[in-house]
Amino acid sequence: METKFFGENQIADAVKILKSGGIVAIPTETVYGLAASAYNIKAIGNIFKAKGRPLDNPLIVHISSPEEIYGVVSEFPELAKKLTGKFWPGPLTVILPKNRDIPLEVTGGMNSVAVRCPANVIAQKVISMTEVPLVAPSANISGRPSPTKFEHVVADLNGKIDAVIDGGDCEIGLESTVVSLVSNVPKILRPGKVSVEEIEKIIGKVEVDKFVHEKFQGSQKVLSPGMKYKHYSPQTPVTIVIGSPEKYAEFVNFNISQNIVALCFDEDIPFVEVPYISYGSMWVTSAQACNLFDALRKCDELNSSKIYAHYIKCDEMSLAIYNRLIRAAGFDIIEL
Ligand code: TXA
Ligand code: MG
Repeated sequence: METKFFGENQIADAVKILKSGGIVAIPTETVYGLAASAYNIKAIGNIFKAKGRPLDNPLIVHISSPEEIYGVVSEFPELAKKLTGKFWPGPLTVILPKNRDIPLEVTGGMNSVAVRCPANVIAQKVISMTEVPLVAPSANISGRPSPTKFEHVVADLNGKIDAVIDGGDCEIGLESTVVSLVSNVPKILRPGKVSVEEIEKIIGKVEVDKFVHEKFQGSQKVLSPGMKYKHYSPQTPVTIVIGSPEKYAEFVNFNISQNIVALCFDEDIPFVEVPYISYGSMWVTSAQACNLFDALRKCDELNSSKIYAHYIKCDEMSLAIYNRLIRAAGFDIIEL
């Protein structure tokens, strides 16, 4: 199929395609999403096909203003009101019991549904003009780094989807924080820009699901099916290296003969003697978040046999970065 490329002034064309059952990649403030009507089962099937996504991995339903949540969930408890009141529109997804109108194809057969109200103006316009909630998983081939630029979407999905709207680069660069409010204690299933600490300030103690840090072993029960699958991976194997800039530089320089690439911080650049791609300052996690997925894709283009990714915990947002990196690395970590 021919994929159409739209600019910001062609939202109406994209909406027409969505209304007639097509699938369109749209920018959001986190990552690009691959959108379709949440009520169109055929279009939803086409999203899973285009991405190569396992059918049991549920999709997030996107709404254009917070009140629209009443059309998606069957309960909207006080805790959810507090959280969405504080963080919507924005990079937070809440999981609540679904209502009858949301098809099981959206939720991977579960009775809960993930809902998000994005802050990106193009995304908001697309949803409100289509006049239905839109499902939108990240607009990448399943398992690949999420798309934070128009070019990433084109690289992965050109010829497989009806259209892409070019909204420039995504501001945040990591997917939304996912909080389940169907368990007794609220649970973070995926960390993001909205941190655990910020959430606890609004609703008190929350749990962080163990699979945010740990590897899924096969037979365990997961609350978020996405946790079972390989994620964010470039083609080149990644190993995380934790340690000071001095030790990191010493480590990669020692391996100089091995066709490696250093996925490093700006501060490492003067010391690293191997090919490198920086993903930002070690002190600025917003920059790291914004650059990480693009940097992983760029590392791949260098055709090396190993990516050594430098990681150091810096602040509350480091958990979100670490969560993506450990998945990209298949949990392969070296501590110096
Ligand atoms: O920032 C974002 O959330 C982006 C943009 C496009 O909005 N979307 C996104 O969607 O990251 P996706 O499909 O790539 O990730 C959704 C995650 C998956 O890990 C999925 O398993 C989980 O949310 N999820 C969705 N519905 C769920 C549910 N009912 N219960 C538990 N986990 C759910
Ligand atoms: Mg995704």
